[in-house]
Amino acid sequence: MKRTHYCGDLRSEHIGQTVTLCGWVWHWRDHGGVIFIDIRDRTGHSQLVFDPNHHQENHRRANLLRSEFVIEITGQVRERPEGTKNPNYGTGEIEIVVNEMAVFSESETPPFPIADHVDIGEDVRLKYRYLDLRRPAMRESVLFRSRCYHVVRNYFNANEFIEVETPVLSKSTPEGARDFLVPSRVSPGEFYALPQSPQIYKQLCMIGGLDRYFQIVKCYRDEDQRADRQPEFTQIDVEMSFITPEDIFAVMEGLMKVIWREMKGVKIETPFPRMPYDEAMARFGCDRPDIRFALELKDIGDIAKESDFQVFQSIVDSGGIISGLCVKGGAAFSRKEIDDLASEAAIYGAKGLAWMKYSEKGLESSIVKFFSEGQQNALIERFAAEPGDLLLFVADKKEIVYPSLSHLRLLIGARQKLFDPAADRFLWIVDWPLFEKDDNGNPTPSHHPFTSPTPDTLDFLETDPFRVRAQAYDLVLNGIEIGGGSIRIHRRDVQSRMFKTLGLTEEKAQERFGFLLDAFRYGAPPHGGIAFGYDRLIMLMLGLPNIREVIVFPKNQRAQAVMEGAPSEVDEEQLRELGIRKKL
Ligand code: AMO
Ligand code: AMP
Repeated sequence: MKRTHYCGDLRSEHIGQTVTLCGWVWHWRDHGGVIFIDIRDRTGHSQLVFDPNHHQENHRRANLLRSEFVIEITGQVRERPEGTKNPNYGTGEIEIVVNEMAVFSESETPPFPIADHVDIGEDVRLKYRYLDLRRPAMRESVLFRSRCYHVVRNYFNANEFIEVETPVLSKSTPEGARDFLVPSRVSPGEFYALPQSPQIYKQLCMIGGLDRYFQIVKCYRDEDQRADRQPEFTQIDVEMSFITPEDIFAVMEGLMKVIWREMKGVKIETPFPRMPYDEAMARFGCDRPDIRFALELKDIGDIAKESDFQVFQSIVDSGGIISGLCVKGGAAFSRKEIDDLASEAAIYGAKGLAWMKYSEKGLESSIVKFFSEGQQNALIERFAAEPGDLLLFVADKKEIVYPSLSHLRLLIGARQKLFDPAADRFLWIVDWPLFEKDDNGNPTPSHHPFTSPTPDTLDFLETDPFRVRAQAYDLVLNGIEIGGGSIRIHRRDVQSRMFKTLGLTEEKAQERFGFLLDAFRYGAPPHGGIAFGYDRLIMLMLGLPNIREVIVFPKNQRAQAVMEGAPSEVDEEQLRELGIRKKL
């Protein structure tokens, strides 16, 4: 095999040359006895010409070629006749008159055509992923992702980071998901856990004196799947010693700048804006706001509690909040459209969606009568409403009001096309609470239990944990969390207090994290870091709807590998060796 070029490489400067190409038969057409075939590889395609007047035998053999046969051809590059040139792709000026051809392998008719726009179920694509990868869009996504690894590695290398590989067979790291467990044959009855992140290892690298760590690393989390979640996914993982959050911001903003420049040819402005967590919740109802458009929430508790509307009054009295959105032009929404929005809000627990339409005549709806003229004017002013607008309100606990309104905000933003899908808006969310409430009202880490409290709130750890603030930060891009990190606890006593607040007994903490607590005995530097979701980053840069499009062999929405058939049953013998007996 002496391939001289890739199929997408040939240009008019190659006219007259004899070339050898290898690839797949793509499009096949017969134009009045002359057969045209596109030969395709990972770089693109070229048009081959089989003319019976030029070479009768080759023409006869070309007739037998079918889609996805793998061939090698040698032929002469010539200019396409005027009127048949195609400016839409690189090789559109030329074609190749074939002199010799070999067929390496034949193909059955593929279950779907190799084309970008085909209407097929995702499971079929995943079952035949090797065919799906031949589609130009998939190929572009794989190549893009590949190039981006290099940009990332070069950046960290240039900034004196050390690339370290941490173990995959390890011990549970608490990142809030369930662990994937791997049974041990050598120690029957015992299990490794696949890391939810290399969190503890990277901290141990700092204690080990490595100073600046990075890794492009697989993480494993057993959690419910979403468009931007996979059970195994890739992080760009970073940790640094003797730093403040400012250093992390600078390093990561620098990385984003380089990635956008190298991968998209776009200059992004730094520093990125920062917004405290509480402000993000109050203005957008969400800790990862999409700031490409406004449509902000406004709290109206003060106005509503003075009104005669019972529902609102009782909610304010019981400590709840009332917040709302002003939808431009929304007064034209039909009753059904508003009911549909109410059903959407109900997904997040909203018990109702109160509304008022604003016209030249003033506010209108069944609840307006409960508001005095002064209160109506105050509402109009609060939202800077104009005639034609629609006000929507949800009243409840914060935990229901914010997610419901955030969901409506995103729905309406997309429906009314309130943002430019090509714009990229980065935002740091800072000033996090250290804990959020779990289902039983107990503190659970907003990030993970190694996050450092701020010095001024540390002492509320035992007395009022929900008042403690974290030295944590998330990076959000267009409403998606692409990274998160924190300054870490580096003192044994503080880490122990943290575990205690989380309800871990001394023994339990020692059993699970004793190795980290021990390491703190021997001189731990102040340190901190961050991890970026690499799949999400690539997905966002390519404008794709889910991260499965940027992962070569992803799991489907039920966390299954449909091609290989995993998870799957294993032999009794394997289980016996592991000391495991199935109950199901
Ligand atoms: P965190 O849990 O926030 O932090 O994860 C960091 C980033 O990883 C991405 N991500 C995911 N991507 C795809 N599928 C998933 N299931 C998934 N889960 C998370 C997100 C997220 O922002 N050890 C800490 C980092 C640190 O503190 O340094 C950690 O893992 O983009
Ligand atoms: P009702 O008096 O129950 O008919 O409710 C009047 C309006 O208030 C309806 O549009 C309800 O959807 C709305 N509503 C009821 N409960 C809430 C709530 N918790 N938050 C917002 N609107 C509500």
